[in-house]
Amino acid sequence: MSSPILQVLNLSKRFGDFSAVNDITFAIKPGEILGLLGPNGAGKTTTIQMLLGLVTPTAGSIHMFGLDLSTHREAILQQVNFSSTYISMPQSLTVEENLWVVARLYGLSEIQRRVDEIVKKLEMEEFRHKVTRKLSSGQMTRLTLAKAFLTEPKILFLDEPTASLDPDIAHKIRALLKEERRSSGLSMLYTSHNMGEMEEMSDRIIFLQRGKIVAEGTAQEIVTRFGQEDLEEVFLKLARESGD
Ligand SMILES: Nc1ncnc2c1ncn2[C@@H]1O[C@H](COP(=O)(O)OP(=O)(O)OP(=O)(O)O)[C@@H](O)[C@H]1O
Ligand SMILES: [Mg+2]
Repeated sequence: MSSPILQVLNLSKRFGDFSAVNDITFAIKPGEILGLLGPNGAGKTTTIQMLLGLVTPTAGSIHMFGLDLSTHREAILQQVNFSSTYISMPQSLTVEENLWVVARLYGLSEIQRRVDEIVKKLEMEEFRHKVTRKLSSGQMTRLTLAKAFLTEPKILFLDEPTASLDPDIAHKIRALLKEERRSSGLSMLYTSHNMGEMEEMSDRIIFLQRGKIVAEGTAQEIVTRFGQEDLEEVFLKLARESGD
């Protein structure tokens, strides 16, 4: 068995007295897509922010590529990227200019070729010269995905990557993610509130509830374990229990 590309051990985050993430342990193997599932406020985004070094854990450790994030932050983050709605990019720059800024920050070569390639892949030609402030939410999402792909990361953290996309482009993005995984062995951590998408995309799913892992396995294993029809039924059962 190959060693994990990402290893999280006993990770916790408290905000004052409140435990947003409570002692979670998991790993991602090279080329694996791990789905992080859970109700609003379960701790998914907080977990991703810790993996990106944006939020400091209260306890626990994070290793990627065998390196400790707390001591090898730069080396690790050079090989990682993410997409989410909470990214802010300079609003007065155009889409293309923003991609250039990212490429420069990562010290990429052949920038124009890479930018052209990613703009084509994500069908962004129509708005590549638009000022970022004027983008629709789906266009903005595509820009954040383009930013994530541009640097050819080894691990991608995708926090609700298809949330504001129309069904056609969401389908294309899922196909693109699977193709990248197939061709380059990209590993991903993925969150979505679309259960069909979680089943389609995830090799394995971790179910978070109030900061704790309450279920783990393939979508089918989880469905079977909870004696439900599908992932949506499991979600409703667990989420409603958490509201009690
Ligand atoms: N900076 C902060 N200070 C205090 N509480 C916070 C902070 N950031 C997050 N939280 C709390 O931590 C909990 C987990 O939030 P998080 O954003 O990780 O949830 P999530 O699983 O991503 O939810 P969603 O599905 O709504 O995106 C929430 O109760 C949230 O209010
Ligand atoms: Mg979130």
